[in-house]
Amino acid sequence: MVSSPTPSPDPGSIALAEAVSRRRNFAIISHPDAGKTTLTEKLLLYGGAIQQAGAVKAKGEQRKVTSDWMELEKQRGISITSTVLQFDYDGTTVNLLDTPGHQDFSEDTYRTLAAADNAVMLVDAAKGLEPQTRKLFEVCRMRRIPIFTFINKMDRPGRDPLELIDEIEQELGLTCWPVNWPIGSGDRFRGVIDRRSQDLLLFERAERGRQSLERRLEPGDPARHELVEPELLEQASEELELLDGAGAELDLERVHAGELSPVFFGSAMTNFGVRPFLDAFLGLAQRPVARESDQGPVDPLRPEFSGFVFKLQANMDPRHRDRVAFVRVCSGRFEKDMSVRHARSGRTIRLSRPQKLFGQDREVVEDAYPGDVIGLNNPGMFSIGDTLYTGARVEYEGIPCFSPEIFAWLRNPNPSAFKSFRKGVNELREEGAVQVLYDTDPSKRDPILAAVGQLQLEVVQYRLENEYGVTSRLEPLEFSVARWVSGGWPALESVGRLFNCKTVRDAWDRPVLLFRNDWNLHQLQEDHPDLELHGVAPVVSGVEPIAL
Ligand code: G4P
Repeated sequence: MVSSPTPSPDPGSIALAEAVSRRRNFAIISHPDAGKTTLTEKLLLYGGAIQQAGAVKAKGEQRKVTSDWMELEKQRGISITSTVLQFDYDGTTVNLLDTPGHQDFSEDTYRTLAAADNAVMLVDAAKGLEPQTRKLFEVCRMRRIPIFTFINKMDRPGRDPLELIDEIEQELGLTCWPVNWPIGSGDRFRGVIDRRSQDLLLFERAERGRQSLERRLEPGDPARHELVEPELLEQASEELELLDGAGAELDLERVHAGELSPVFFGSAMTNFGVRPFLDAFLGLAQRPVARESDQGPVDPLRPEFSGFVFKLQANMDPRHRDRVAFVRVCSGRFEKDMSVRHARSGRTIRLSRPQKLFGQDREVVEDAYPGDVIGLNNPGMFSIGDTLYTGARVEYEGIPCFSPEIFAWLRNPNPSAFKSFRKGVNELREEGAVQVLYDTDPSKRDPILAAVGQLQLEVVQYRLENEYGVTSRLEPLEFSVARWVSGGWPALESVGRLFNCKTVRDAWDRPVLLFRNDWNLHQLQEDHPDLELHGVAPVVSGVEPIAL
């Protein structure tokens, strides 16, 4: 009998498997001022993506790689927008999904986290957990994203490291596994002990603004005792023994399930501990993983391309006045000029100018793999959460809208500019810069803006003026809570008249109830226990939004 030859593996699938195993994708979550910009810059330096320290923050001519490109950001010194930074390091393609620094833009950060496989939680050693860190951590937990903790600013007086670990474990319910452990702190910070190799990484203080020199001393090296005060070494060793006694092990499965966080100590500003962090992180972080869809989990090794839109941004570059949809590749190989199916509309589109964006720079990409992010020109067709695919139909789980807390009428004082006003409002809503609600009374045509943070409203006004040439006026509404109604209009009509709330419609013509405060909400829930309300808008599929 002649046995049939074993089929040789298809070169395409080998290339795909190889590309996926080489990719790591992550976002940094932190409270403003913890050092995210500084750490990002140091990581980019290692990746050779920028040539000099300061480039991320540098102003004027030198300002090449920056996520703070909007004029308003420059004026206010805040980071609103976010981009994707890709670099190669030691054989790995790293995608760093940058998130806005200001908490008023946390909705944008939530959406970016939907595209991330790993998160780095940056903590200021002197401050410990801060409100924004906690909030973003909750989003990571919801999505079971692995969390790596970097405790920063070790060159300055900080809190006791054991206390910091305890705070993270108690407050976040996250088991910590310190990968390295600090020796002394503040003025007496001498470096860290690598817990796995027991090597000592010495921190050599340089003048302000200069980089620290990292010197590695192996366990038997006599210089250890000459260069570090014995009592500090002893204290660090005792603390390490305590940690070993506590029993947690570096279990990768638990790390990838988001239950156990590898912890690193360092100082981004002096560049101490950043390279060891990057090396260990890339070894421990999860590669692009399967994502949930209406067809079940989709493996990144599925040969056909698929991905979803997690962010839209208009007028990123005023010279181009373009609209870009950021797509996270989830499976298969993406190729330039590819024709893909747009799941929501069922239409086929050819993606002729896919871009890779790096701060302000952009270049046409020839191909991309799972874990990568591509920028597509968006002629108004894409919404946040949309799926693109080839092969059998697949639709990824959408990205929910978070409950807004600030509401205001947006008035157009200049009726002759209505066309531009309408265009601006519609485009900014599509982008997710703000949510837009409408009065149920059709004679009240002005939109109601609904936002998570006040600055979001200011940005909308600012951009309307600068990008669409229209001035506008905000009239605050006295509401602070929004709820979506399960069962839509029929459910709402069945309960009759409601008191102490205002009913409006969202861009998908669904009823939304606005309340002044939680008390009014609870009152209504008591009066109408059958009415099911949701703080997060259900994901919409297959319906076109209402434009202004
Ligand atoms: P963010 O993006 O998270 O908001 O923080 P950013 O990197 O802008 O850092 C906030 C401040 O903390 C900056 O100081 C930065 O230099 C400082 N910083 C970051 N990492 C470290 C560190 O490891 N050690 C110390 N001592 N400081 C650190 P700044 O005075 O606001 O700005 P700059 O004058 O240094 O640019």
